[in-house]
Amino acid sequence: MAEAAETRGTMEEITALAKRRGFIFQSSEIYGGIGGFYDYGPLGALLKRNVKEAWWRENVTLRDDVVPFDSSIIMHPQVWQGSGHLDAFNDKMVDCKVCKHRFRPDHLRDAAQCPDCGSKNSFTEARNFNLMLRTFIGPMEDTASNAYLRPETAQGIFVNFKNIYQSARRRPPFGVAQIGKAFRNEITPGNFTFRLREFEQAELEYFVPDDGKDLEAFDGWVQARKKWYSDYGIRSERLRFYELKPDERPHYAKAGVDVEYEFPWGWGELESIAHRGTYDLDAHMALSGKDLRYFDEASKTHYTPLLIESSAGMDRTTLTMLIDAYVREKSTDPNGKATERVVLRFHPKIAPLQVAVFSLARNKPDLVERARGIERGLRASLRTQYDEGNIGQLYRRQDEIGTPLCVTVDYETLDDGAVTVRDRDSMTQDRIGCDQLERYVREKL
Ligand code: GAP
Repeated sequence: MAEAAETRGTMEEITALAKRRGFIFQSSEIYGGIGGFYDYGPLGALLKRNVKEAWWRENVTLRDDVVPFDSSIIMHPQVWQGSGHLDAFNDKMVDCKVCKHRFRPDHLRDAAQCPDCGSKNSFTEARNFNLMLRTFIGPMEDTASNAYLRPETAQGIFVNFKNIYQSARRRPPFGVAQIGKAFRNEITPGNFTFRLREFEQAELEYFVPDDGKDLEAFDGWVQARKKWYSDYGIRSERLRFYELKPDERPHYAKAGVDVEYEFPWGWGELESIAHRGTYDLDAHMALSGKDLRYFDEASKTHYTPLLIESSAGMDRTTLTMLIDAYVREKSTDPNGKATERVVLRFHPKIAPLQVAVFSLARNKPDLVERARGIERGLRASLRTQYDEGNIGQLYRRQDEIGTPLCVTVDYETLDDGAVTVRDRDSMTQDRIGCDQLERYVREKL
């Protein structure tokens, strides 16, 4: 195969593939959909799960200084008073007086023209709009029963800080990690699953003593997160770590870095890493009147630890994995014929499936049985799939869903006990004995 030329997919191509192959569907599609909500199909659910597991593995499982946590989505409304969300979690909003549609002024291409109806100078004055989604608890729908769906998972960790450090017997520096749903009533959801109203966050709250090493710890997390994106295959040229200037950070934040990816529509935030000082614990201590400080047995003193937060969106990261992996590839085969394929070059740890096993013929019980047996054998430790039929179509499908390896059982397998293993990226094929297959596959992956 001659040198292949690769091009990046457009958002139209990627969203079409996401639907066709079962990655992402519009929520409630049969009723016309609902803005800002999406469902993950069979392969999308696997992909997102792999992204979350990769985050959890590096940030919790492989560390001895981070403990897991899982708090409720609905908390006491005062949590949101204390955190400042009730008063200040606002976006600016304008209405078009002609078509009545709402927009975020900072998302408008032309500040004077409505993107929906084209009217000029038809916007109202900008007003604040609180992004929290409200619901009611109990049988009365009055203000006394108001409750909110959490707009971030972090607050569950802050209000439980004392419970966590006492029960887990931890002293700063240590972290608390949580992956969970968050909800924001975004004025203009969009760019597929980039800006949602229901999404998942992976948040790491790392508490450190105020001993002058806090900025070192902050930098340590920035480096750890850089390594994570690179280890799981995100192209470095499409990723940047933007250091926030003092006037771009909240007044209490000593440092901040936004992790950004170059999406087809431009740069967008995947994660924010922030040095938040004692702001969050202080705020809850002030409103609740409860002491959340750490008690240091050795020195018999109380102190409020400083906080370093890494907050990543799991839907945005999943979308990034999909967009980053998508490649349209043109090449010429050994006979000089031009060929084109779409391939998702997922990292093997992120790919929804790792190995597909094919029987070359549907109607040959010997082949089918052999192929199914091989797939069953690999299934316990790898993400696998059995399929059968036309080999060209099978390869095309697995390329489009990003499966790194395809194993084919053919007529010769019955005689020589070997199978053909085809590599997704190079499209090269190796003939491997069945007794060597598992080891070969493991090495390749
Ligand atoms: N606790 C800190 C916090 O929530 P944030 O920058 O508001 O910080 C962190 O959110 C991450 O959550 C973002 O970088 C993004 O990946 C994700 N996120 C925020 N709003 C989102 C939305 N409407 N849709 C999808 N992901 C979102």
